[in-house]
Amino acid sequence: MERSRKRQPRALGRGVSAEDGATGNGPSRASRLRLMRLGCALVLGVFAFGAPDASRAAEVEDSCVDCHSDKDLLVVNKKLYDYYQDWQYSVHKQEEVTCFDCHGGNPEIADKKGAHGTGLGEEDTSSAVNFKNIPDTCGQCHEEILDSYRTSEHFKHLVRKKEEKQGPNCVTCHGSMGTSIPNVTSVEEACVRCHNDETENHPEIPDDARTILNKFLSIDRFYRYIRVRLEPEERGPFLDKIDARIRDLSLRWHTFDLEEIEKDTQSVLAAIKQKRDEVRERKAEAKAASGD
Ligand code: HEC
Ligand code: HEC
Ligand code: HEC
Ligand code: HEC
Ligand code: HEC
Repeated sequence: MERSRKRQPRALGRGVSAEDGATGNGPSRASRLRLMRLGCALVLGVFAFGAPDASRAAEVEDSCVDCHSDKDLLVVNKKLYDYYQDWQYSVHKQEEVTCFDCHGGNPEIADKKGAHGTGLGEEDTSSAVNFKNIPDTCGQCHEEILDSYRTSEHFKHLVRKKEEKQGPNCVTCHGSMGTSIPNVTSVEEACVRCHNDETENHPEIPDDARTILNKFLSIDRFYRYIRVRLEPEERGPFLDKIDARIRDLSLRWHTFDLEEIEKDTQSVLAAIKQKRDEVRERKAEAKAASGD
């Protein structure tokens, strides 16, 4: 059963995606999402309860959103209001990933009790959003990232008695709705919470992480330059090769094996910068020649 997100290789971080210019030969985004949903429904079966009631489907499309979007919540339950707003402006909302996809429950039942079922609150150990279950919940769609994360020290330390000894899960770094991606300017803050002089837990890590993400950013920049300016005959083969290496780096990021990642990042950066310099030089020569 296909349930991983199949994506084209892309530049790292929030940069330009290799999909941007492509016509897209894979399944459409909508059908990809349906595939993912199907996968989620299967896995979330653990947390969900009861089969969807087809007779009600016509009446209620998504009771979670209908009810949680109520503006009165701002007054009567600010916390609930804030969670809805976070989702409202998240990448997941844009991608039609809704409450049910992460939390379970039954969005075809209009009343709260029926829609929620049991075990929705994060304190409940069976909840999809209980601290220790979050990686699996996100990993239903971000499967390769989950695989990577599972090999990390963070995953090994996920369940600990003392909170300060605990490893971070997906939402520690990305926020509850997966709305934020730490970048070169924010990653230090994300790591220093646990890696600092006081905890004596590898206080050098925030700085190392920043150095690597700065290189990711440079790779993105050179990638964009090359993608726009390299001659078409040469562009395809070069991008194919570099895409594969970038993709590999991107996937390995969540192992948090910073030493290895740093080495490979440096090597990709050197290769892509060299190509950029070549292209720039050629452009300059052509310009000089035409100016004669
Ligand atoms: C310790 C912090 C941390 C944890 C824990 C973490 N991430 Fe990330 N994640 C990051 C950072 C930093 C980036 C940006 C790296 C980059 O620019 O490629 C990122 C990038 C991403 C991206 C976007 C880039 C891509 O490759 O598509 C996704 C999606 C993502 N993480 C999902 C997850 C999921 C799912 C989990 C849990 C299984 C998780 N993350 C755990 C820090 C973290
Ligand atoms: C008719 C209104 C209504 C519907 C439908 C509804 N909710 Fe809620 N939900 C609430 C209210 C009100 C709360 C605040 C806590 C309470 O009163 O039980 C809440 C609380 C929550 C919480 C916090 C945990 C908890 O149990 O307090 C989550 C998570 C949640 N809802 C998700 C969902 C999801 C997912 C769906 C759809 C499957 C859904 N809700 C459908 C009204 C609703
Ligand atoms: C991408 C996955 C995802 C989506 C989509 C999502 N949530 Fe959540 N939500 C989470 C996670 C993970 C947590 C636990 C947060 C934490 O530990 O900070 C959470 C926490 C919550 C809480 C607090 C739970 C508690 O026990 O206090 C509420 C309320 C909530 N979400 C409501 C919603 C509603 C309503 C929607 C849809 C409008 C929604 N969520 C969509 C992942 C998601
Ligand atoms: C039902 C499927 C689904 C679930 C569950 C899900 N996501 Fe996503 N997520 C997506 C899709 C689709 C995208 C946007 C397309 C992409 O990045 O490939 C996305 C994008 C993201 C991004 C931004 C990536 C970028 O490059 O902009 C982050 C970060 C992220 N998700 C984290 C999470 C976290 C954390 C959780 C768990 C709390 C989670 N996701 C649960 C489907 C899902
Ligand atoms: C919630 C706390 C927490 C946060 C936030 C956190 N870490 Fe960690 N990290 C840990 C714990 C706990 C360990 C395990 C330390 C040990 O070996 O005892 C660890 C271990 C590591 C290791 C392995 C160190 C080694 O050599 O064994 C790396 C690398 C690492 N973290 C990177 C990061 C990066 C990068 C960030 C920010 C993007 C980050 N961490 C954010 C708690 C955290």
